[in-house]
Amino acid sequence: MRFDVITLFPDMFDAIKSEGVVARAISKSKISLKTWQLRDFSNNKYRNVDDRPYGGGAGMVMMVKPIRECINAVKQKTSDTKVIYLSPQGKKLNHKLANDLSKLESITLLCGRYEGIDERVIERDIDMEVSIGDYVISGGELAAMVLIDAISRQIPGVLGNHNSINDSFLRGILDYPQYTRPEEIDGQIVPEILLSGHQANIDKWRQEKSIENTTKKRKDLIKK
Ligand SMILES: C[S@@+](CC[C@H](N)C(=O)[O-])C[C@H]1O[C@@H](n2cnc3c(N)ncnc32)[C@H](O)[C@@H]1O
Repeated sequence: MRFDVITLFPDMFDAIKSEGVVARAISKSKISLKTWQLRDFSNNKYRNVDDRPYGGGAGMVMMVKPIRECINAVKQKTSDTKVIYLSPQGKKLNHKLANDLSKLESITLLCGRYEGIDERVIERDIDMEVSIGDYVISGGELAAMVLIDAISRQIPGVLGNHNSINDSFLRGILDYPQYTRPEEIDGQIVPEILLSGHQANIDKWRQEKSIENTTKKRKDLIKK
């Protein structure tokens, strides 16, 4: 999977390039992650990429031309890429969407700033808008990193020995409770069954706890 990210703040992506699952996926060549500085596509000496909104109002809007030229430059390298604009108005990210997107060869992520981008980019250059939730953050970069991580985890071989099959949402329900050493701390003990070595009973207990957890925390998933 190839990720190309269009952003005004490429350095923000150093965090996921250098640590954790995404960094490991890059080092194993399961994914690549290239950032594109949108200001490199500005056509003025101040490297501006935004201007005041028509009709007045607060803030600035990101202009069509630099974004369109940058997307075209990305497409010179990877022509069949799916162009996603991170936006609070987009399709809400969930496990299924991350899994569907993980099957693609190439994704281009456009990170907005200010009041967002000129609507004509959305009309002509964007294949899909994705939201990480019903709230507004200050820029698309954090949302893009969430999406890259959620997608990368779904790519075979990325998690290595760590198996994600019990991760919350994968089976439509939440994960079961996890415990590690020590067996007892401050009077709190690990459920005995997990120490029994009887795998069939442990699996049954975990399935029951997953359902119990989901019923307690996310009843809506049980209804589905
Ligand atoms: C301050 S927001 C602009 C929000 C815009 N005025 C609106 O209400 O739709 C700036 C940028 O942050 C990103 N962003 C904000 N909230 C987001 C969310 N929930 N999901 C994905 N991206 C988001 C988008 O790229 C957006 O262009």
